Amino acid sequence: MTIHIGAKQGEIAETVLMPGDPYRAKWAAENFLENATLVNNVRGMLGYTGTWKGNRVTIQGSGMGMPSLSIYANELIRDFGAKTLIRIGSCGAMQESVKIRDVILAMTSTTLSTPSRGILKELNFAPCADWGLLQAAAQAAATKGTPIHVGGIYSSDVFYDERPDLNEQMVRHGILGVEMEAAELYILAARHNCRALAVLTVSDHLLTGEALPSSERESSFGDMVEIALHSAFS
Ligand code: HPA
Repeated sequence: MTIHIGAKQGEIAETVLMPGDPYRAKWAAENFLENATLVNNVRGMLGYTGTWKGNRVTIQGSGMGMPSLSIYANELIRDFGAKTLIRIGSCGAMQESVKIRDVILAMTSTTLSTPSRGILKELNFAPCADWGLLQAAAQAAATKGTPIHVGGIYSSDVFYDERPDLNEQMVRHGILGVEMEAAELYILAARHNCRALAVLTVSDHLLTGEALPSSERESSFGDMVEIALHSAFS
């Protein structure tokens, strides 16, 4: 047990999928894992461990934003021995070519800052995905026929962003979408010799103002969960 994860030693798998929303962890565990059991409910940040095609997997909520994700990822890696961490979440599209429901595989993540800023100091470290996971995820998406975009995303500290100029620069530099967690996940994975990837479903569009209707969220998010699972175990 750690401060934020109530699981006993051995109850967390080496492969962990991390949605921001704890209820999405529950939904993904119930729909994609066999024999899923609840291993964490501290602060309602639900975590489940089960199997997928015979492979042990944990699905643990990360909460929203990099400080929250940092708490869970640190404890999963340092105290429970997690080795492969895949974020499954939503993002806002920042390019015309990216459509609602599309999946983005985040090759890199740009930030203004991350919780690791304190130790990296003036170093502009480039957080990037694990190549093996990225390649396998792209292959899984191609097999499923899910439209994907592979490239850079922006991990923001603010959802209600009052700096339109900053978003303009992201758009101009080809950033595909914005979310709030991936960069710190990539940095922690690099620091601890783990593998990480963010597989993101486009839930809203910053340029067109469109948003995925809530009735369609589950089915679209399912593709992302399957891509993440195939990626982890291929
Ligand atoms: N901004 C930040 N995070 C997000 C967004 C967004 O527009 N959509 C989904 N996650």
